[in-house]
Amino acid sequence: MNKAIAEHLRVVADFQPSNADELEAFRLKYLGKKGVLNDLFAAFKSVPNEEKKEYGRVVNQLKNAAEQAVLRFKSELEQSKPLHSENDLTKTGDHVFTGSQHPVTTVRNEIVDIFKRIGFSVSEGPEIEDDWHNFSALNFPEEHPARDMQDTFFVHTDPDWALRTHTSSVQVREMEGNEPPIRIIAPGRVFRNEAISARSHCIFHQIEGLYIDKNVSFADLKQTLLYFAREFFGAETKIRLRPSYFPFTEPSAEMDIWWGLETETDYRMTKGTGWLEVMGCGMVDPAVLEASNIDPKVYSGYAFGLGIERITLQRFGIPDIRMLFENDMRFLNQFKGVI
Ligand code: DAH
Repeated sequence: MNKAIAEHLRVVADFQPSNADELEAFRLKYLGKKGVLNDLFAAFKSVPNEEKKEYGRVVNQLKNAAEQAVLRFKSELEQSKPLHSENDLTKTGDHVFTGSQHPVTTVRNEIVDIFKRIGFSVSEGPEIEDDWHNFSALNFPEEHPARDMQDTFFVHTDPDWALRTHTSSVQVREMEGNEPPIRIIAPGRVFRNEAISARSHCIFHQIEGLYIDKNVSFADLKQTLLYFAREFFGAETKIRLRPSYFPFTEPSAEMDIWWGLETETDYRMTKGTGWLEVMGCGMVDPAVLEASNIDPKVYSGYAFGLGIERITLQRFGIPDIRMLFENDMRFLNQFKGVI
């Protein structure tokens, strides 16, 4: 074999470029217009006839080897190339669409955390509830207005089932299924057949609290609610308990916090009293304990329930409850990075 060609074959076989420039130089040297292979093909004419066959074979071998080396190293160099090497580093990045937490979720989580810190655990119940858990076991009399179609969404095929009107139904499920001591909070969605307005909606969220043990007193309830109010609304918060009525608690009360009466908004929000209504509460009625097979002579307990939406509106200065349910991105985007 022609010595020069043998040397070229060796060079091509050993070729190992470390960058694209070296590869390009190699390509030009062998495959370029004025490259080695063109010269070798041009010399074919002057090769003696009896050597032509062998000469053609090795030159073609060299050509194939050179072409393959170029192809292989080209793709290898491309793969190992840092991604940004040919990008414009001053270009703005691709926009990543991120969601944000809904303000109702934020407030719910905050309330849940506050009660978790003093030993309450989270419990949940079904949103479609039977009459027993939503009403009867909670001491609602047969003719109570809440049982009216006007107030409650019943399952039309079976009036024994309805969308729960409050999270108090979880109290019953909890007491039926567990021995005291019971210390739970139950956040959840509730439903009422109400006209939708800026202040009320047919879907909203509540958090229920229940504590059952030996010797639980009204003083325990009061102190727990004071703790909550100060954690949520601020360390200086003052509370008051007003007598009220719920079928499932006796005595029953409404807890207000002192909001102040400095601005016109304060007047509107507190109906001119300076006190803001936050939740209903009371000592669990003995009839309710009995309905769930808990002996009221041994155990007592307290319960409370609050609506999440109203305090969410206050916290973020949202003027209309409907905004919380419309999923309008212009509204929701305002909470990005805020909460
Ligand atoms: N379930 C009541 C409501 O929806 C709120 C409530 C009041 C819950 C007093 C309680 C309670 O646990 O003790 O209006």
